[in-house]
Amino acid sequence: MSGYGRECADIVRAAREGSYKIGMILGSGLGTLAEEVEDAVRIPYAHLTEFPVSTVTSHSSELVAGTLAGVPVVILSGRAHYYEGGDPTVMRTPVETLKELGCEILLATNAAGSLREEVAPGSPMVISDHINWSGKNPLIGEEDEKRFLDMSAAYDQDLREAMKKVAEETGDPVAEGVYMWFSGPSFETPAEIRMAKMLGGDAVGMSTVPEVIMARFLGMRVAAMSIITNYGAGMQTHALSHDETKSVALTGMERMKQLVRAFVKEVGQ
Ligand code: 6GU
Repeated sequence: MSGYGRECADIVRAAREGSYKIGMILGSGLGTLAEEVEDAVRIPYAHLTEFPVSTVTSHSSELVAGTLAGVPVVILSGRAHYYEGGDPTVMRTPVETLKELGCEILLATNAAGSLREEVAPGSPMVISDHINWSGKNPLIGEEDEKRFLDMSAAYDQDLREAMKKVAEETGDPVAEGVYMWFSGPSFETPAEIRMAKMLGGDAVGMSTVPEVIMARFLGMRVAAMSIITNYGAGMQTHALSHDETKSVALTGMERMKQLVRAFVKEVGQ
């Protein structure tokens, strides 16, 4: 079973020759980082075979290939989610495309809800591990023996250290924690948030885990970061909304851009 990664990589190479080091997936409200890519080509997902166009407002849908901090990168600005069509393999072709373009590293970003009082909205959190609470897996149906994928070090230790190091150098250390994938699209109930805390989650979200599994399956090293946009249900007095997710993600963007740029410089040599 495989997607259209090779075909899509050919389309990208026809527009811009070269090989790339780091692939990134930008989540809700985080797309403006793609504007900072230099010497860039921008290809709408609609021009890339089998690329899923997200129905989520605030997600743009383009692939941007170029350089960031001097490092060749491919940015996927906008992702499709499991909850949009019930397909956990929806990001297979995009992740394959990054791999085919030479990316050895995947940096995945998302907007997430915090389960920890001290990790407040607006702050970034480096993902150290995940809990797949959805019960879904993008490797279901895969026949290659590699489907029995080791996930004991899914989030690369060296990349996490690099992220924390560059954060400390900017004088603003970053939190680290476990991301718990709920399918969405409804947010959790307060009881589910209490459960998530008891089970060891530090943040909850609706994405990233399927892409991380795919990327590890393809042999990529993975780093991932959440922007905390709100607390989990029952931990804040006002209701949860996608509007809040989008607007807080935007305010967290400056810090996140700074971190990502420094990270790319650090690991992209
Ligand atoms: Cl509280 N839950 C989930 N599942 N995703 C989120 C979120 C919460 N906040 C932002 N994204």
